[in-house]
Amino acid sequence: MTRRRAAILISGRGSNMAALLAAMADPAFPAEAALVLSNDPAANGLETARAAGVPAEAVDHRAFRGDRPAFEAAMGERLAAHGADLVCLAGFMRLLTPGFVASWRDRMVNIHPSLLPAFPGLRTHERALEAGVAFHGCTVHLVRPEMDSGPILGQAMLGVKPGEAPDDLAARVLALEHRLYPAALSAFLRGELRPEGERILPGPLALAG
Ligand code: GAR
Repeated sequence: MTRRRAAILISGRGSNMAALLAAMADPAFPAEAALVLSNDPAANGLETARAAGVPAEAVDHRAFRGDRPAFEAAMGERLAAHGADLVCLAGFMRLLTPGFVASWRDRMVNIHPSLLPAFPGLRTHERALEAGVAFHGCTVHLVRPEMDSGPILGQAMLGVKPGEAPDDLAARVLALEHRLYPAALSAFLRGELRPEGERILPGPLALAG
């Protein structure tokens, strides 16, 4: 099997990136790490990637003064330079234009800290607690132009504890994210999950915490 060449896009801590790098260090995993790319040169995850021997670069979005197509063209140039044919968003906190998303259709995946389509956007754990849900979790999906949307490759869920604090819930979901992302990505790349319109067949990977 030819391994895909993955670029992992981050904006900060990079713990999901680290989970993907650990999985990709196994030659049996269907993708290898080609590049870690951040929009923020100060992202902690860049050092983690370099320590793991993976090329890590930044394209500082602030240098482009709101010109998103120019920012994305610069990122695209770095992706091409490293031969990336797969993009894994891992806590990448910039919105992408429809044109960039279209150019990576079915080759760009994201992880989001909620059970989509519930709670797209930010502050997902606080909002889940405010809504009084019994179950919460995370989602790995193919990226479509609308924020935090696209065919669902996998979800992991847990039961919310009575009176649970947002930070505690976030930590429990994050541990699930680190399990779900490599598992869902692997199943997708091996062809066990395939897009059919806006759904995934035979059905999303399901994990429980
Ligand atoms: C993760 O919880 C990820 O799901 C979330 O940001 C965090 C990044 O942490 N992503 C989003 O909210 C995207 N909509 P990490 O840098 O330690 O992986």
